[in-house]
Amino acid sequence: MGSVGAKEVPVLLSPDGKRIDGRKLDELRSMRIVAGALHQADGSAFVEWGANKVMAAVYGPREVHPRHLQQNNKAIVQCKYNMAAFSVDERKRPGLDRRSQEISKVIAEAFESVIFVEEFPRTSIDIYIEVLQANAGTRCAGVVAASVALADAGIPMVDLLPAVAVGKVAGKIALDLKKEEDNFGEADLPMALVPQSGRLVLLQMEGHMTGPELSESLDLGVVGCRAIYEKMKQALRDRYQLGGPSEGAAQ
Ligand code: CDP
Repeated sequence: MGSVGAKEVPVLLSPDGKRIDGRKLDELRSMRIVAGALHQADGSAFVEWGANKVMAAVYGPREVHPRHLQQNNKAIVQCKYNMAAFSVDERKRPGLDRRSQEISKVIAEAFESVIFVEEFPRTSIDIYIEVLQANAGTRCAGVVAASVALADAGIPMVDLLPAVAVGKVAGKIALDLKKEEDNFGEADLPMALVPQSGRLVLLQMEGHMTGPELSESLDLGVVGCRAIYEKMKQALRDRYQLGGPSEGAAQ
């Protein structure tokens, strides 16, 4: 541990370029995706990504609640992202806070741009994301889980939506930040990519980066998203080739 003023900060990058968990700068944390992990939902997925554990459930297209939100020409996409009280080190107060509302909104908007909403007028597509264990990048893990859950529910989309956060750690651009890197790094840039078109449908940034660093981050994020895309497709293949929940899901 090094120290900055009174605050203890971990050494984020070793002299030989290794990160706090031994990863290289362009390396993802390990990821496991289970498509169809729940029985009750129309579609579901469970994602373990590093120390993140995130469940997504999808319902719809179904009747709109509350009714006044109904749109005559398209489905609405509603998302509820929630962090369990036990998901973080310091117990999180249960319920909707501003952060959860903001994340729910940006995720709903990202999916609205890839789902063929015009095919289901006057309906709602509802996405629930429950973060059971959090270690940075939970909105991206939520997007990955929700995307596989939407595909599992048979909802027509332009493409799956891989997502990852890139950031700046000890002056270097790094893929897929873990918690210490998110907390003590210089910038955090979550993004979601439509792989076929290369369109970004979610992009946020906290912290500071130069223009060239931003462009390096976007390039690295796109490469990361494409690798995650392959894992998402494999999870769906596993689920449907085996005719049941993919490997690891309890019956
Ligand atoms: O999770 P994500 O990186 O998308 O969002 P964030 O707002 O940048 O939060 C980064 C991390 O801080 C979370 O993943 C949690 O590990 C942690 N966090 C926390 O400990 N308590 C909160 N109330 C919110 C976040």
